[in-house]
Amino acid sequence: MSERFGHYQSEIYLQGYGGATPMFTTDGARLEEAAERVLDPGPFAYVAGGAGTGATMRANREAFDRWRIVPRMLTDSTERDLSTTVLGETLPAPVLFAPVGVQSIVHSEAERASARAAAGLGLPFVMSTASSTSIEDVAEASGKGPRWFQLYWPNDPEVCGSILARARAAGFSVLVVTLDTWSLGWRPCDLDNGYLPFLKAEGTAVPFSDPVFCSRLDAPPEENEAMAVLRWISMITGTDRDWSALPFLREHWDGPIVLKGIQHVDDARRAAEAGVDGIVVSNHGGRQVDGAAASLDMLPQIAAAVGDRLEVLFDSGVRTGSDVVKALALGAKAVLVGRPYVYGLALGGEQGVRHVMRSLLADLDLTLGLSGHRGVSALGPEALVRGQ
Ligand SMILES: Cc1cc2nc3c(=O)[nH]c(=O)nc-3n(C[C@H](O)[C@H](O)[C@H](O)COP(=O)(O)O)c2cc1C
Repeated sequence: MSERFGHYQSEIYLQGYGGATPMFTTDGARLEEAAERVLDPGPFAYVAGGAGTGATMRANREAFDRWRIVPRMLTDSTERDLSTTVLGETLPAPVLFAPVGVQSIVHSEAERASARAAAGLGLPFVMSTASSTSIEDVAEASGKGPRWFQLYWPNDPEVCGSILARARAAGFSVLVVTLDTWSLGWRPCDLDNGYLPFLKAEGTAVPFSDPVFCSRLDAPPEENEAMAVLRWISMITGTDRDWSALPFLREHWDGPIVLKGIQHVDDARRAAEAGVDGIVVSNHGGRQVDGAAASLDMLPQIAAAVGDRLEVLFDSGVRTGSDVVKALALGAKAVLVGRPYVYGLALGGEQGVRHVMRSLLADLDLTLGLSGHRGVSALGPEALVRGQ
């Protein structure tokens, strides 16, 4: 039997018996409003907002609401095993920390705090290229914890190679290549605030600590920050690629490679043919194409088409334990969680992140057992029914 994540519930009730209530809400759906109270408007909108009218963000949630779990009884689900294997790594639960950049805009300890919380739970921390903390510093904070590296693909091949080599040397095991953000989506929530954190050199720790990137500058970033920022932005935005570019990554990364941002079944098939190891079915939490399909709606057909060849991961809209159950039942091997842990970071640094993720895991554990499942591997489409 794996760790009993559900025990967090008893822990909270026992503290309540002693007169203490949790420092932060246990309701994943209320984290956003709690974070809004502690963040400035610019950073809050940057995290909470999405593309355009927010239609895809809403669609991500509505897609979860359309599926209902059908609990089964007398299944001897007292002992439960939430552990799973993803790309050869055994995880205590099918949950990863999604890559989220610029965490310094919500908390001074930024990615260090999140990486420590992830390591404490044994869950992979997927570090963003747009982090406010260098690769080596995140690795140090992560310690013995599992860690993956997410790439925003610089259009300078030597800079890209240097970043990948650093990540590999610092113990990042899996490369996650984000395909859906080669340019920023139209985000009125940020445009109306005139707020783009990168322009203030937030989220630039990876390039600014990179010797090859710095060799491209006339002056070091600390002497001419504005020029360094502009050089970096022009390296990671504005260049779309095609499938023929993928072999470059294999040449520079000897571990598993995962493509993030897949939504069309043909792209999933193409990824399998290209020989990558996994995909993340994701619409970037509704931050890129407003009006795009809900990520969960695309998951079943993608999992059916490539689930036997690729590790199919999922994100966009996961807020509760039952959301994780639904995504797994519809074919995901594991899910990535984005905004919720960032709200936890805003509310209470490492402790806040830990609380948010322990709450999600406890909810998952209890929901799994109460719906009659002894392990995550037992979940399939028969666990769900379409609601009205
Ligand atoms: C503030 C913020 C920053 C993000 N930064 C990145 C990033 O640097 N790289 C990336 O691949 N995805 C990034 N994402 C997308 C997440 O990895 C993930 O796809 C998304 O948050 C999942 O949706 P959710 O927030 O509804 O869980 C970011 C998301 C947010 C909210």
